[in-house]
Amino acid sequence: MAFQIPRGTQDILPGEVEKWQFIENTARELCNKFQYKEVRTPIFEHTELFARGVGESTDIVQKEMYTFQDRKGRSITLRPEGTASTVRAFVEKKLFANAIQPTKLYYIGPMFRYERPQTGRFRQFVQFGVEAIGSNDPAIDAEVIALAMTLYQSVGLKKLKLIINSLGDGDSRTNHREALIAHFQPRINEFCSDCQNRLTQNPLRILDCKKDRDHELLETAPKILDYLNEDSKLYFEKVQEYLTNIGISFEVDASLVRGLDYYNHTAFEIMSDSEGFGAITTLCGGGRYNGLVEDVGGPETPGIGFALSIERLIAALEAEGVQLPLSTGVDCYLVSMGEKAKDKTVTLLHELRMAGLRAEKDYEDKKMKAQFKSADRHNARFVAVLGDEELVQNVIAIKDMETGSQENVSLEKLVSYLKERL
Ligand code: HAM
Repeated sequence: MAFQIPRGTQDILPGEVEKWQFIENTARELCNKFQYKEVRTPIFEHTELFARGVGESTDIVQKEMYTFQDRKGRSITLRPEGTASTVRAFVEKKLFANAIQPTKLYYIGPMFRYERPQTGRFRQFVQFGVEAIGSNDPAIDAEVIALAMTLYQSVGLKKLKLIINSLGDGDSRTNHREALIAHFQPRINEFCSDCQNRLTQNPLRILDCKKDRDHELLETAPKILDYLNEDSKLYFEKVQEYLTNIGISFEVDASLVRGLDYYNHTAFEIMSDSEGFGAITTLCGGGRYNGLVEDVGGPETPGIGFALSIERLIAALEAEGVQLPLSTGVDCYLVSMGEKAKDKTVTLLHELRMAGLRAEKDYEDKKMKAQFKSADRHNARFVAVLGDEELVQNVIAIKDMETGSQENVSLEKLVSYLKERL
């Protein structure tokens, strides 16, 4: 019987995986510059964490979690996102007691959501995310947004659109919530059953409904920006001022609602503006979650972060036709003729590698010509040819595959010669 990969998952094979490594390395380097430190949390957590953290009324918790009972009957869930786990670790490991605050963390790892797979939407996908926990300074909002934008720009994406909104503080949200209920209640029976539940649970999410998105009441719904109190307004203005000052363009979109319950104040998404990008254009989403640390059992602590999937980033690269500067290929391929020479290449190969070169040889007893073909396939910069005769003379012939020139070098000088030329 032949097995098939589960729906909505991917094998990332050599040839493709180099892109992932490049993006992940770029993200790590960027986090180092911005002073975010890596956190690695478990792939699974107690279900209750996500129910509480992500929110009971969200699609994620209601329909998309991979939840099962372990052998002792505990309810376990494969993490659908990284914020709840990061905040759990922050609280459980008392990171709020560290001398350096805010606590700035990042993660790269697989997340799981039982969604209908389509282009850009998987059941297992890899998120890169950051969380800055412990500061209420709008400068940190601007920093987090700048980090996300800079990652996309560093890999060569240009057609990006940043949209931001403010969901305000608790008071602003309560006022807006009441206005939304008053707005939708009289005609709520025209909406889908999910929205009917959302009316009391979290009416903001009606604005984000995929089924009812064309209903006329959505157009005329009360906008959160009109309900911001003075503090929330000032906060949002400051975020915008900082973004402008650091040269990040954005649009304010009062209808931006994020699909998770924990947000307040700043919410943002980065979209691909590229033609040919699929129906799902959101590359990245994030925002502030000032009540979450408390919800998860910690002290009152503000936080903000974002997450983006590598899958969608790669899709955006393809849509824009961006080639990543990947260095594949080997520095030197060793070709041998004769038994003694072949034995010697085993030692030489190891020496080359220990000297930091990418080196390869043949392991299939191929003829000379076929070994050269292999060197080509490995995209070799240099080919070093050793025959039994050269071995006696203690030399090796090095061919520069770019210029075609060839030179004999003593065996002791092989490494230094190549290092100099590369
Ligand atoms: P989210 O909007 O649910 O937010 O997901 C963030 C990003 O993850 C999306 O913009 C998209 O790039 C990617 N993503 C989500 N679902 C899928 C999928 N099925 N297939 C491929 N990519 C997907 C969060 O997860 C929040 N935890 C973000 C956050 C961090 N907010 C504050 N801190």
